[in-house]
Amino acid sequence: MARTPIIAGNWKMNNTIAQGKALVKALAPLVKGAKAAVVVCPAATALAAVAKAVKGTNIAVGAQNVHWEKSGAYTGEISTDMLAEIGVSYCVLGHSERRDYFGETNEGVNKRARAAYAAGITPIICCGESLEIREAGTYLAYVAYQIEAALAGFKAREVAKLVIAYEPIWAIGTGKTATFEQAEEVCAHIRATVKAKYGAAAANAIRIQYGGSVKPETIAGLMKKPNVDGALVGGAALKAKDFAAIVNF
Ligand code: PGA
Repeated sequence: MARTPIIAGNWKMNNTIAQGKALVKALAPLVKGAKAAVVVCPAATALAAVAKAVKGTNIAVGAQNVHWEKSGAYTGEISTDMLAEIGVSYCVLGHSERRDYFGETNEGVNKRARAAYAAGITPIICCGESLEIREAGTYLAYVAYQIEAALAGFKAREVAKLVIAYEPIWAIGTGKTATFEQAEEVCAHIRATVKAKYGAAAANAIRIQYGGSVKPETIAGLMKKPNVDGALVGGAALKAKDFAAIVNF
């Protein structure tokens, strides 16, 4: 079964509304007709304006986080209804920056992912090891555990529709992309982990991205790997030309 590649731009805490609108305006003609699904993930303040700006294009909009409760006393959080209302269709969850700086746990990622999925928002679930874990040689087990925890409670037919982003922390924002073989090794292991728990159909359908210093020069090699179905792009997603070159690998 052929999986549709998916390239997502994680803008992180960058781009005001005006900057975000200008970026998607420049991007839209460059990615028109792309064979990959295209997603941009602005900061919360720019989500509504960017969602409006991409109407009628092939660019979808993702949030960078979402809370699991429908509403209530959760200062600083945003609900799935709030995102769905403005046309958000994806949500990055469990990014290593959220885990490292804001105490995000595997359990929280699972709750957020289940709420997003239930609201019709496709979770992009991030996983990935630190340099310490990489050097200790335990990264495959570590990432498999993150994925098992994030997927707990999902049914196999639901797992088939999710997106996972493998992002080794040592490659994020460092300019140090994992080698194509390193990316493939872990993405293949993630797929095997999904297969063991949810079966071959779910494993064949789920899309697994690589993330961490993806650049126009590295995307083609990454996409040649059989278990890499796309990319989650940070820095290079802030420039229309670079991101378009990645989308149009
Ligand atoms: P980077 O970020 O491409 O700037 O390394 C990737 C990410 O954190 O999603």
